[in-house]
Amino acid sequence: MAQINPSILSADFARLAEEARAVDGADWLHVDVMDNHFVPNLTLGLPVVESLRKATDTPLDCHLMIEAPDRWAPAYAEAGAGSVTFHAEAAAAPVRLAREIRAQGARASMALRPATPIEPYEDLLPELDMLLIMTVEPGFGGQAFLDIMLPKIRRARRMMDRHGLEMWLQVDGGVSASTIERCAEAGADVFVAGSAVYNADDPAGAVAALREQAER
Ligand code: DX5
Ligand code: ZN
Repeated sequence: MAQINPSILSADFARLAEEARAVDGADWLHVDVMDNHFVPNLTLGLPVVESLRKATDTPLDCHLMIEAPDRWAPAYAEAGAGSVTFHAEAAAAPVRLAREIRAQGARASMALRPATPIEPYEDLLPELDMLLIMTVEPGFGGQAFLDIMLPKIRRARRMMDRHGLEMWLQVDGGVSASTIERCAEAGADVFVAGSAVYNADDPAGAVAALREQAER
């Protein structure tokens, strides 16, 4: 079953509660946390996540594009995020961090920038509930999908199968009506879509259409 996670990065930040409710039928709400250090952009932090949690019944999928996730990520789980993703490139102790996130009752997930290989992380996959393969350089919405990431998605899925892991494989960046089928075919099952959902006239309809395409 394909899961569609609209990214509120492309929503109107002055109307977040309303925008969260505009994507009825979404599996998760993808919340991009950026600190202007790990990526050259600044978005929102814990207080906004705490408020969003109360504004919607859709579970929150927090993607932390921040330095020092070892220090901050567990607090996002505590604030009510159902899934917390930290970046492999920023984590000092990814296994310990994943265990701390799980101990707070959230799903633990790790993200890889386009140039970061999966192979060095093979042995720690069992500690994770999801792997996020970035299909653009993190930092901004609306960028073009990087086709060259498709073999990496395929390798990740094969690796998970080899280890008998039922974890989720998420793709984020440039996912749209014209790229989602290729991602699904390569083995992704959780799809983040920002501009493809929030720039549509009917965001909830866009979610339904993307889901149908992913499951085709
Ligand atoms: C980018 C963020 C994405 C972004 C995707 O760094 O992690 O979640 O919102 O936006 P689109 O779908 O427009 O590429
Ligand atoms: Zn994201």
